[in-house]
Amino acid sequence: MGFNKLCILGLGYIGLPTASTFATHGIQVIGVDTNPKIIEGLRNEEIHIHEPGLRTLVQAAIHSGNLLVRSTPEQADAFIIAVPTPFYPDNKKADMRYVTAATESIVPHLRPGNLVILESTSPPRTTIDLIAPILERSGLKAGTDFYLAYSPERVLPGRILQELIENARVIGGIDRISAEKGRDLYRIFVRGDIILSEATTAEMVKLMENTTRDINIAIANEFSRLADRVGIDVWEAIEIANRHPRINILKPGPGVGGHCISVDPWFLVEAAPDLASLISTARHVNDGQPHFVVELVRRALDGELKGKRIAALGLAFKPDVDDFRESPAVEVVKLLVEAGVEVKGYDPYLNGLQIPGVPLYTELAPAVKDADLLLVLVAHKELCNLEIDRLQEMTPARKILDTVNISGNKNFEQSGFVLYKLGVNRRTQ
Ligand SMILES: NC(=O)c1ccc[n+]([C@@H]2O[C@H](COP(=O)([O-])OP(=O)(O)OC[C@H]3O[C@@H](n4cnc5c(N)ncnc54)[C@H](O)[C@@H]3O)[C@@H](O)[C@H]2O)c1
Repeated sequence: MGFNKLCILGLGYIGLPTASTFATHGIQVIGVDTNPKIIEGLRNEEIHIHEPGLRTLVQAAIHSGNLLVRSTPEQADAFIIAVPTPFYPDNKKADMRYVTAATESIVPHLRPGNLVILESTSPPRTTIDLIAPILERSGLKAGTDFYLAYSPERVLPGRILQELIENARVIGGIDRISAEKGRDLYRIFVRGDIILSEATTAEMVKLMENTTRDINIAIANEFSRLADRVGIDVWEAIEIANRHPRINILKPGPGVGGHCISVDPWFLVEAAPDLASLISTARHVNDGQPHFVVELVRRALDGELKGKRIAALGLAFKPDVDDFRESPAVEVVKLLVEAGVEVKGYDPYLNGLQIPGVPLYTELAPAVKDADLLLVLVAHKELCNLEIDRLQEMTPARKILDTVNISGNKNFEQSGFVLYKLGVNRRTQ
């Protein structure tokens, strides 16, 4: 069976580029989203996501006539599910309600010979234990009447359009033929290797990748605390250690965010809490890092937070993206507000972000104009390229606390700033 028509559920960071790429490769795509604002926007060719090249791609897809947006699915040769998989903040368990609802919405449209692919990052065994039984409510049997596979998305925000096409992709089928059908579908545009496996392995691949990254960042964050305690510069020590051919220590920072790395490891903890103590500890280390940053702020302000004015520079979960989900920078700001600090925030990409009690700006000047301390939380290029003399003219602040080493090659001290850094204890230097 060829694939003439696809239905893609979820038109977010993953679903929209995927739908548009298939459409520009000549496939008829029904893009489905339950958020009426997104559907309305796309009908007017308005894109709700900041991703280089995406606007042009979506416009090309719409103009080709191959991408239609809808609020409910319809019959198709294949269905791709790319809806959110957040976690419940109180117990850190996976919130599978979106995946469940999206799968249920396919059931009335499922026909013999169809292929269904889950792309949402999901706990192990989701494809077999959750998706297959829901789809079988159609009266069709997975593996016999329709094909079912899991294929995680591993693109990097900021490079989604290239990586979607160029990255290696794993497709885990509930049986071999399902994996092969998945390969035939993605081969339409994927130029990277396509590796066939089984569904639960493919689910684990994604979770293991993100968990490894989380643990590696946790050790870097722990090194930043140790460096502070023993009185060295963690950035220098990491640079030297990384000259060793088999060492690659990541960078410390104010924590770990985004809705992947800070969430996915919990899916493994949930699957086997008795076996995942290292994973759980790393999560706690990274979640504790914003508190550590607040203590550094307190120290830089001679022990007093209440009533102080701080400009928080950079709020996204990582540099050069407009994604604020689970952002540790936002967490730092909230902790400071709780401690009685007057915070103003700056981020070039605000994208509708709101933090109660905190005025937010996309320009630097209003955020820093009456600050006691400048707190750098994200290495956005706008902050890395900052001219110190220009900054000095904008603010009365003479203290700057850098948690992401934007000051690496800059001489803040020469321009009259007192520089404090994560992982560098001025008092013991
Ligand atoms: N963003 C990334 O960089 C990235 C990378 C790899 C994997 N993932 C995974 O991909 C999945 C999707 O992530 P995202 O970033 O695209 O999320 P997103 O929030 O940007 O988009 C998801 C979209 O799904 C829609 N939706 C919710 N329920 C729906 C339903 N029942 N039917 C149709 N649409 C529905 C939402 O309205 C939203 O627009 C998640 O599991 C995520 O963990 C994301």
